[in-house]
Amino acid sequence: MRPIQKLQKLALDFQQDDVSFDQISEQVEQYKELLFQLAEIDNNKGRNDVYMPTGKAIGTTWAALCLDDVLRTRQFIRGVMQAVEHLLKQKPKVHLLYAGTGPFAPLILPALAHFPKGKVSCSLLEINDYSFASMQHVIRQLELESAAVEMVQTDASTFQISDEYLPDLIISETMQAALKDEQQVSIFLNLMRQVPEDCLFIPQAIQLGLGISEFSDELSKPVAPLFEVSRKALQTQLKTTAPASFEAVKAQIQKKDFSEKSGVFILTDIHIYGQEWLTVNQSGLTVPILQVYLDMIDYDQILIKAQYIIDENPKLDVQIQPVVPAIAG
Ligand SMILES: C[S@@+](CC[C@H](N)C(=O)[O-])C[C@H]1O[C@@H](n2cnc3c(N)ncnc32)[C@H](O)[C@@H]1O
Repeated sequence: MRPIQKLQKLALDFQQDDVSFDQISEQVEQYKELLFQLAEIDNNKGRNDVYMPTGKAIGTTWAALCLDDVLRTRQFIRGVMQAVEHLLKQKPKVHLLYAGTGPFAPLILPALAHFPKGKVSCSLLEINDYSFASMQHVIRQLELESAAVEMVQTDASTFQISDEYLPDLIISETMQAALKDEQQVSIFLNLMRQVPEDCLFIPQAIQLGLGISEFSDELSKPVAPLFEVSRKALQTQLKTTAPASFEAVKAQIQKKDFSEKSGVFILTDIHIYGQEWLTVNQSGLTVPILQVYLDMIDYDQILIKAQYIIDENPKLDVQIQPVVPAIAG
């Protein structure tokens, strides 16, 4: 079987609903095997991260390992395929822009292979030279050069979209849990500022919230929202070209709502597209990030102030102020 035929089969597998976690792991394992065979990455050459003023881009070896986050890989692939299908009902051809392809462009390859030739084209952006070279090699091996009409080694957080290749759908997974260190926010802001309102984004929304619990694996729903990346939530930032600066959000947590010992966590929920989500604890991208452990016996309430900061190490800066009970009399 030619590599493109294997990919077409996997594209069908990924679209199956009601499959067990073991089946998903098996599908992702086969996909990984195919991509590693095609790319021929030398792990010793791919370990260097790239550092930029608005965050880092992870090295080739680490980007390749993102595939192992099996639910992440499957849900994003499904989201992209569903979004393309939706768009193809409205227009004859669809152009994708994929920012941060890594060494394989894995989140869009099944869509490129699945839909009829000529229906889907793409612009592929990657900053890391070794990942960029590998991704181009994979595209050639899969005979997808006619779909990959634009491949640019560039920083997607400053890249200027040309009129010739205006995207209908923009995809980027350049993040860690709690939107720490990497450039997802800067990349989406830059691209959102350049495209019409009906351009779709995957993920559709990334939501950071506050979680309070003794154990991180018991967490699911946030007790307060802290920050969101989506076209709607970033409205104010889209009206200006000034460097991004986000307002601080405040939350107040009462003692009665928690057990004696409580960890304060940042939770991440990712709405990929349609029904496809990665919720808290489903993926490495959505593990709760501990800020501090508090002994609640000592406090009446805690005050939280959170603000997303973009610099060399982007992060949600969370300040936690415990309030001691007032002394009677
Ligand atoms: C987390 S990896 C994900 C790779 C692949 N998209 C996947 O889902 O498996 C992020 C990739 O985006 C690239 N990247 C990060 N920031 C970038 C930027 N500002 N411009 C272009 N590429 C970037 C990194 O070099 C890395 O290859």
